[in-house]
Amino acid sequence: MGNNGTRMNADERGFTKVKIRKAKKGDLKKIAELFRIESAKKPYFEKYTIHTAIKEISVYLHNELYVAFEGEELVGFLASLMAIDDNKRAHVKELWVKSDCHGRSIGRSLVRYIENFYQRKGVKYVALTTMKTAGAFKFYKKIGYRENKKFVSMGKKL
Ligand SMILES: CC(C)(COP(=O)(O)OP(=O)(O)OC[C@H]1O[C@@H](n2cnc3c(N)ncnc32)[C@H](O)[C@@H]1OP(=O)(O)O)[C@@H](O)C(=O)NCCC(=O)NCCS
Repeated sequence: MGNNGTRMNADERGFTKVKIRKAKKGDLKKIAELFRIESAKKPYFEKYTIHTAIKEISVYLHNELYVAFEGEELVGFLASLMAIDDNKRAHVKELWVKSDCHGRSIGRSLVRYIENFYQRKGVKYVALTTMKTAGAFKFYKKIGYRENKKFVSMGKKL
């Protein structure tokens, strides 16, 4: 709340407006660095180096890769693909928001952005995989995603 008892907006709290746009090649290092740092945290504990993170993210540069900037600072990104066999489904492959910016609707805005993009292209369904134990599971449920009863995630330990 502000001094006069009114609810403060993001600008009044000292945040600059977050801008979402398609990623450029020049953003790759910043995206990979955010990915490397955030994915090393609980519950993921990934062990990317900046080199392997760049390799992983660069795959999406020629697909749908979007960045959220607050001024000069990269605060989040979303990587997504359209299904190759038909153009009615798309997949969100990565979504990462800088941890000190969580809870400020950046994740929701990135997802909404690509949902609008895909809707205009005639896509009917957006799919994704997430860990049940991750906060992301609750986040996706909150923004309208539901567990798919038809498919199950499987694996085999070698
Ligand atoms: C998941 C993630 C992208 C959410 O981004 P965010 O910007 O913090 O989320 P938002 O502020 O847009 O939240 C939207 C809604 O989801 C809820 N939400 C977000 N994270 C949540 C969590 N961990 N637990 C419960 N609810 C959560 C918010 O409270 C908000 O609800 P509201 O509509 O009642 O206000 C972010 O936490 C993140 O980067 N996590 C690590 C990476 C990850 O798990 N990525 C997804 C798998 S690839």
